[in-house]
Amino acid sequence: MHSVQGEDGEALTRRDLLRRGAGGAAALALSGGALGAAASAVAAPARARYALGFTSMTAETRVPALPVDGTIPSWLSGSLLRNGPALFEVGEEAFNHWFDGLAMLHAFSITRGRVGYANRFLRSSAYDAWKQKGKILYSEFGTDPCRSVFSGVSSVPISAPIPNANVSLEAWANGFRAHTEVPIPVRFDPATLATLGVVPGSTGQMGTAHPHGDLVTRERFSYEVSLAPPKTGVRVLVEKAGKVRELAFLASAEPGYMHSFALTPRYVVLFQQPFIVNPGSFVTGPPRPIVEHFRWAGRTQPANVVVIDRHRGGVVRTIELDPFFVFHHVNAYERGGTIVMDVSGHIDSRIIDALYLKNLRRADQRLPAVKLRRLTIDVARGKVQVEQLAAASIELPRVNYGRVNQHAYRYAYGIGQRGPASGFVDQLVKIDVTRGSARLWREAGAYPGEPVFVASPSATREDDGVVLSVVLDARRRTSYLLVLDGRTFEERARATVPHHIPFGFHGIFTKR
Ligand code: CO
Repeated sequence: MHSVQGEDGEALTRRDLLRRGAGGAAALALSGGALGAAASAVAAPARARYALGFTSMTAETRVPALPVDGTIPSWLSGSLLRNGPALFEVGEEAFNHWFDGLAMLHAFSITRGRVGYANRFLRSSAYDAWKQKGKILYSEFGTDPCRSVFSGVSSVPISAPIPNANVSLEAWANGFRAHTEVPIPVRFDPATLATLGVVPGSTGQMGTAHPHGDLVTRERFSYEVSLAPPKTGVRVLVEKAGKVRELAFLASAEPGYMHSFALTPRYVVLFQQPFIVNPGSFVTGPPRPIVEHFRWAGRTQPANVVVIDRHRGGVVRTIELDPFFVFHHVNAYERGGTIVMDVSGHIDSRIIDALYLKNLRRADQRLPAVKLRRLTIDVARGKVQVEQLAAASIELPRVNYGRVNQHAYRYAYGIGQRGPASGFVDQLVKIDVTRGSARLWREAGAYPGEPVFVASPSATREDDGVVLSVVLDARRRTSYLLVLDGRTFEERARATVPHHIPFGFHGIFTKR
C-alpha cells in the first residue's frame, strides 16, 4: 500500500537537499553547518540510513493542510505537541550528544480529518546565543561551551537563564511547559508555539522531565537534585494550588542520575541507580560536559527503591536491589501491601554513550537492549522482586495515562528494535503486560518516535483510541504523522510533512 521508491543509500547530497522539501525553502533555510554536515556525509559511507533523523532542520514552517493518506477518525480533534532537538551545529561548533540539540516545538493540529503542521524553535538562551553570537555559550548534557571565554579551569556548568528545554512537554494548571533535566520549566503557547518565559522557583541543579500530575487530587509531583555542597541529594516535591511542599530530602554525598519516577495512590517511588556524581568534581575537576561527571558504580553499589509517603511525607522504606539503569517508568500501582512498578530497564548506563551523535550516526551502531521490567515491592518486608515482562524491547513508554496511571493496567506503548542489527529504533510496540505478548508496527525505512495514546470519547476498553507517532521515512527523506488504531495497532492514516523532522523525545496530545 505504501511502496517506497527511494534509493537504498541514505547519503545526502547538496542536490538532494535543494530538490526536496517545501519547494526548496527548507534547503535554503538550512544553516551552513547543516549543509556542511550533510556534505561530509557523502564521504562517510558508514553513515547510518536513519542518520537523517540526527540532521539539523532549521526551517520554521507552518503548513495548513498536509496530504493525508487513509482516514483519520472524525472524533480526533486537538493537537499533538512534540519536543526534541532540531539543531546540532552552532556556527563552527557542534553538539556532541542527542540530548544537546536546540529545542524545537512541533504541533500537528487535527480537526475533521485534516492535519496541519507547524514548528518553532524554543527561544532559549542557547537559541539566542546561536542567533546573536553563532556560538555554544551554555553547558548542555554532553557538550561543554568553550571554557577559555569564561573561567578557564572550573568545570561548573554554565547554566542558561532560559534552558534549552528539548525533552518533554507538560500541560498543567492551564499552562503549557517544556522541560529538560534542569528544574526550570519553559512556558509556551500551544497555538503559536511562542516561548513565554520560565517558571521560577527551583532550588536544585537537576530535575525531572517527567513530573506526575494527579488529575483527581490536582497535585503535581516532581523532584530536584541539589548538587551544591554541603546539602547534596534529592528533594521530592508536591505542588497543589500553586504551593510547593517538600515531601522528603534524600541526602546523598554522590547523588545518582534519575530521569523519571513513579506515582501510586499512596506513594512516590524513586528508582535510584548507581550512575552517580561527586558534586565536588564540578569545582575541582577538569572542564568536561555534565554527563561526563557521572560514573557507573554498579559493580560495587546497589540500586535503591525509595518509597515515600505522598500524603504525610517522609521515607517509608528504602530497599536495595541489583543495579540496572532506567530512563523511563511505565506505570505503577498498589496491590494489597505491594507496589507494582514497571520500567524500561537497561543493563547499565552504556545507553548514554550509545546516544552520542557520533555513535548514533554510524551504520554499525548497536543500541543496548532495553526490556520491560516489573518491580514488585513488598513495602512491609522491604523486599523487591524483579522480572522481565516481555521479550520485545521498549523505550519512550506510554500508557493510557488518564485512565490507568496509578492503577492496574494492561497495555504499554513504546518504540523498539526488531533486533540488535537494527542500529536504531525501527518499530512501534504495544505490549500486553498481563501476557507479555506484543503487537508491532513497522515498515521498511521507517523510524518511529514516541507513541502517544489518545482515548476515543466513547472508549470502553483501555485501548479504545488511536496511537500517534511521528515517523522518519528515511527513503523519502520526509517525516509523517502516523495514526494507528489503538486496539489492532494497524495503520488508519498518515499525514506527510514536506521535510524531515529530527528524532525527538516526548510529546502530549491536547484536546480542543
Ligand atoms: Co524522557
